[in-house]
Amino acid sequence: METRTALVTGAAQGLGQEFARALAARGCRVAGLDARKQPETAGHIADYLELVADVTDEAQVADAVEGVIDRFGALHILVNNAGVYPACAFEDTTVEEWRRVMRINLEGPFLVTRAALPHLKAAGWGRIVNIASAAVFTAPPTMVAYTASKSGLIGLTRALAAALGPYDITVNAIAPGMTRTDTAERTVGADGGFERVRARQIVPRTEEPRDLVSTLLYVVDEGSGFLTGQTLNVGGGSAYI
Ligand SMILES: NC(=O)c1ccc[n+]([C@@H]2O[C@H](COP(=O)([O-])OP(=O)(O)OC[C@H]3O[C@@H](n4cnc5c(N)ncnc54)[C@H](O)[C@@H]3O)[C@@H](O)[C@H]2O)c1
Repeated sequence: METRTALVTGAAQGLGQEFARALAARGCRVAGLDARKQPETAGHIADYLELVADVTDEAQVADAVEGVIDRFGALHILVNNAGVYPACAFEDTTVEEWRRVMRINLEGPFLVTRAALPHLKAAGWGRIVNIASAAVFTAPPTMVAYTASKSGLIGLTRALAAALGPYDITVNAIAPGMTRTDTAERTVGADGGFERVRARQIVPRTEEPRDLVSTLLYVVDEGSGFLTGQTLNVGGGSAYI
């Protein structure tokens, strides 16, 4: 991995920060893209490239990807992790909110992947990892927009894998269960949410960001070139039954 460069979106906190740190620990050069500043992530990674951009803004995304090339000269690994997961009754979901969720969770990965792709092709090797959600299997009733957006991301993963196979670029999705990040604790995990999900899991404890690291490193591994178009469901069995 020492010769590889990775771009992680949503790297300021939560899972994205965990993924950025794990890739750096594996020897990658790492850039992080987030709508916010990333002092905590940058403070933990030597030679970190911090990019402030909105994944839904085509021009900002293009500039950010060019920033990676200017700094590191190449791009090999893309982790599309930036996302939002609001809970809302379906009848109360406004069209603006529906579009916001779709734009961040589905159009964002499209824009970042499209901007990154020429560089992965130029490198002749690539790993694209889309962070989906176990919600696509468990279908929580108050997360219809979110579940639709992440199901779309899995469709993007499968069709893009088929398109990019000839270029030695794999495309896979990881579907975490409810994982203890600050945002999850404040929103979906509040009011007993973690306990309710834990009761459906086979593994009887709350999922932590570090529980996803080995799967990410497996998917981006040099030896994982035959793994593509897949969704790896890492939720302690929450979507098993
Ligand atoms: N935590 C969970 O329980 C859980 C479960 C399944 C899937 N996921 C998915 O994992 C990903 C990360 O979740 P998290 O809990 O770490 O969330 P988080 O809120 O801690 O982090 C998300 C990051 O994305 C950034 N972001 C949001 N919109 C953006 C935009 N338009 N442009 C650029 N950056 C933007 C935020 O600033 C934030 O730093 C999301 O895609 C989420 O849907 C999370």
